[in-house]
Order: sequence, then structure tokens, then C-alpha cells
Amino acid sequence: MALPKTNPTQTQAWKKLEDNFNQVKELHLKELFAQDADRAQKMTITWEDFLVDFSKNRITNDTLELLQELAKEVKLDKAIEAYFSGEKINETEHRAVLHTALRAKENDTFFVDGKNVMPEVYKVKNKIKTFTEDIVNGTRKGYSGKPFTHIVNIGIGGSDLGPAMVVDSLQYYKNNLTTYFVSNVDGDHVNEIIKKINPETTLFVIVSKTFTTQETLSNANTIRAWFLQHASEEAIAKHFVAVSTNLEKVQEFGIEQDNIFPMWNWVGGRFSLWSAVGLSISLSLGYQHFESLLSGANKMDEHFKNTSFDKNIPVVLGLLTIWYNNFFNAESEAVIPYSEYLGKLAKYLQQGIMESNGKYIDRNGSKVNYQTGTIIWGEPGTNSQHAFFQLIHQGTKLIPADFIGFAKSLYGNQDHQDKLISNFIAQTEALMNGKTKAEVMQEFEGSDLSKSEIEKLAPYKVFEGNKPTNTLFIDQLTPESLGKLIALYEHKIFVQGVIWNIFSYDQFGVELGKKLAGEILKDLQHDAISKHDGSTLNLIKFYKANN
Ligand code: F6P
Repeated sequence: MALPKTNPTQTQAWKKLEDNFNQVKELHLKELFAQDADRAQKMTITWEDFLVDFSKNRITNDTLELLQELAKEVKLDKAIEAYFSGEKINETEHRAVLHTALRAKENDTFFVDGKNVMPEVYKVKNKIKTFTEDIVNGTRKGYSGKPFTHIVNIGIGGSDLGPAMVVDSLQYYKNNLTTYFVSNVDGDHVNEIIKKINPETTLFVIVSKTFTTQETLSNANTIRAWFLQHASEEAIAKHFVAVSTNLEKVQEFGIEQDNIFPMWNWVGGRFSLWSAVGLSISLSLGYQHFESLLSGANKMDEHFKNTSFDKNIPVVLGLLTIWYNNFFNAESEAVIPYSEYLGKLAKYLQQGIMESNGKYIDRNGSKVNYQTGTIIWGEPGTNSQHAFFQLIHQGTKLIPADFIGFAKSLYGNQDHQDKLISNFIAQTEALMNGKTKAEVMQEFEGSDLSKSEIEKLAPYKVFEGNKPTNTLFIDQLTPESLGKLIALYEHKIFVQGVIWNIFSYDQFGVELGKKLAGEILKDLQHDAISKHDGSTLNLIKFYKANN
């Protein structure tokens, strides 16, 4: 079954949501809490080690029901079935979307073109396991007989962000290997990495689904040339491995068959960290932790597949995004983890969410007449409180935010943890309640300021509040809980895409720039310049004049 192709704005539920929006838009969250003593309880989902409190959203019970009605009307249930059953829901590329198979149990079945992919998935997983163990315990050595001490992951986009984010987020669980990621075609990036490594003890993992990506191939070639200044051609087999679907191109690059970790076209780049693209994760944390990450994601898959919409975390969070994006006209969403470890999460989600749902053509081939993909941004708290929170509290834009926190810290410094979590909780309370003029005036009591000075200052100190947040409170940051969290956002992306009636799994929007860069590269490297507009031409000339 293909995905249903319903324009969401033509549904009955959408019309009812418009009416509901008119009733809800002026309501303050404070009133909503005052009206219903059980609101927090009703609007909280507890699942495994997760507590998801979405009560601080500008919704009523009716809104929630109507959003679920919308999901039903666009046949989200059928879409979920199609997603998990290996249907080619990536219609424009004629591919299934089965990253869920990568974390499924060995005896589960996932069919692509009538073939169960699980035996192949497990074959590659076993290869990752053996390879990881051989590198980590030093059985497999570099060309001079020394064990490996460093890993360099060479990739970009989905072949970089997922592994980089996970390795960074789970650094507490890291083994003795040092891992670097090189992605940008900016030569200074690769040179900074080269400065830090020793060719004798470094393993290079080239990750590229297509093995045609300019950045990755340039970095891989630069590293190989540098490596060959120190070692012989034969040493390449010991130090370079690749992850790709394009086995031919990998071999052309000079990597031996045995050193290739395959992946498949039914795994999208930005959803690929669960495949051999996660090799650097396994190498950096050990295979068992990689398994736990996968098992967490699998638990979230089961939750998403089998839970009614009202208690389904990715469904509820996906629907809330629709509410703000399409009814409140909010343009962006912030993701604020209260964990320094999750510093790369927002960056990772930017690709996941914006590359998936930044589309204006619907599944019928027509231009949408409503908003789609949200802009994602964020930084960990508490640092971000001292950076951009001012705008969320008192700016003119509505910015719904996900607050992600962990009840237990990893090092167990209770005083720091209490302070961190007090901020985590206080911010959502402040964003919701704000501060009234009366409260401000009360604060001025006993101050030395004159009455007119107080009156003048008061408006600046008022916070309107009514800023929506979700709180995702998780017991502790572990490979498993991180797996659950990432899978949650993956499924949220799916829910949003189904409702917006767009194809979430292609990324044609990145092609044009790549093509033009290829043409401009020729202009930069040859005397003749091809035809361009005046501005582009001037920029090319400026560069050439300075090189
Ligand atoms: O930026 C576009 C993109 O195709 C991403 O979707 C992908 O993750 C990235 O480039 C890297 O592609 P590859 O793994 O084929 O090198």
C-alpha cells in the first residue's frame, strides 16, 4: 500500500481544529491548569524510563481529540503499517524505509521485494561485532604491529551527524579509543584532524551511502595521500574500511572486499546510524553498547507501532507540532537538552527533521497551500538560558520547545544535578506562567525607586508567559535511553510527513547546489568562466583575483 494522499486541510478534523483554535488561541495555560486539576496527569505519558509531560501546551482536551481525529482521517494507522511492512513509501525514489529492521530482533521478518532482509542485517551486525572486538582488544593491528588507538570517521550528513552525535552523547561509556569525525570539505578541518593522529595506530572508516559525495571522497583522498607518505599501499588494507551501498566505487577507491561493510538503499542516510554507518559508534563504545542503543530504538518502534494514538509518544508530539506550525503559525521549534552530553542533538535533528519535511510538493504532486517542515534549533541548558532564552521568554515569536532532562546524572554529583534539574523544571514553569504586572509591582515594594520610575520600568519586567513546552524526563542517559529518544524523533518525523502529505524520505532539495558547485569549481580552476548572473560572476572573480 502506498501512503494515503489526503490534503490535511480538506479533512473534517482540520475544519474543527480551526474552530477549536479560535477558542483556544487566547486562553492562557494558567487558566487551563486552573480549570482542570488533573490536567498534568491526563497529559502525561509514562512509558518505560520516560515521562513525557505535554500538559504545558496550548491545547484543551478537545484539541487533543481533534488532532487524533486528524491522524485517523489521514489514515496514519495504515501509513504506520505500510512503513513497518517494507512498502515503498519513499515513492519518489522507489524505496522502502526500513531503518526499523536494523534494530529489530533476529527472528522478526522485514520484507523488501518479497525477500526477508533480516538474515543480511544480522550478517552485517555480526561483522561489526567481530571487527569491533578485534580492534578494541588489539587483535587486529596496524601496519607496524601496534594496536589501534584512534578512529577517524570520514563522512558527511547522515554519514557523520548520527555517529558523531551518539559518540559525543555517550562519551561516558567510551572505551580507550579516541574518535574523530571529519566531514567538511574545508581542508582546514581534515588538516586539524591529521595533526592529532599517528598513521601507525589510526583506523579510517569511510562512510558514504553513495560513495560519490564530494566532501567525503576529497577528505578520504587527502587522508590516503597523507597516509601513503608514511606507509605502503599494502598498509591501506589494514587501516581503511568503508561503509557503503556502492561496493564497486569502494573497491575502485582501493578498499578490499573484506573491509567493506554493506548497507542498503532501504536505509535513508539520515536514519542510518543503526546500520554499519554506526561502525564508529560500535568501535568507540564497544559492541554491547551499540546493541543497547539499537535495543532502545526497537522498544520505541514497538511502542509507536502498537500504542493507541492518545498514549503514543511520537504521535502526540508529532500532532502538537502540526498544531503550532499550522494553526499558531509558529515557524520553529527548539530542542533544549539539560545535559551537556547532548550538545549535538539539535544539529543531528536538524538534518533528520528539516531534510525530511522541508518540502512544498505534496504526495499528489501539487504545491501545498499550508506550512510544512519546522525549523529546528537548540543548545543544551543551562548554557542556552544565558544565550537565547530571553527571546523565547519575551520575544515576539512563539517558539514551542522540547525540554529533555535526565533524573540521574552519570557521575552522581548530587548538588550539581539538583541545580541542573531545578533550572530544567523552573524554565518550563516560567515559560508557562510568566510574571504579571501585579507580581512585578509587588517585587518593587520597599525599593528606592520613585513611583514614576517604577511605572516606567514595570512593562519591561512583565512576562506574558503562555509559552508552550514538552518535558521529556528520562531516568538516565544510557545507550538504551538514547536509542529510544532518537527513534522517538524519527517516528515524529514520519507522523508529521504523513499528515502534511509530503514525501519525507527523499532529499532532492540538496541536489541543485551540489550541481552548481561542480560547475563553479571548473570556473575557479580554469581560466574561462561560464555564464552566471552579475553577483555570482563578481564573487567568482573576487576569489580568482585573491588566489
Ligand atoms: O546532503 C544530502 C545527503 O544525501 C544526505 O542525505 C546524506 O546523509 C549525505 O548527503 C551524505 O551522503 P552519502 O552517505 O551518500 O555520502
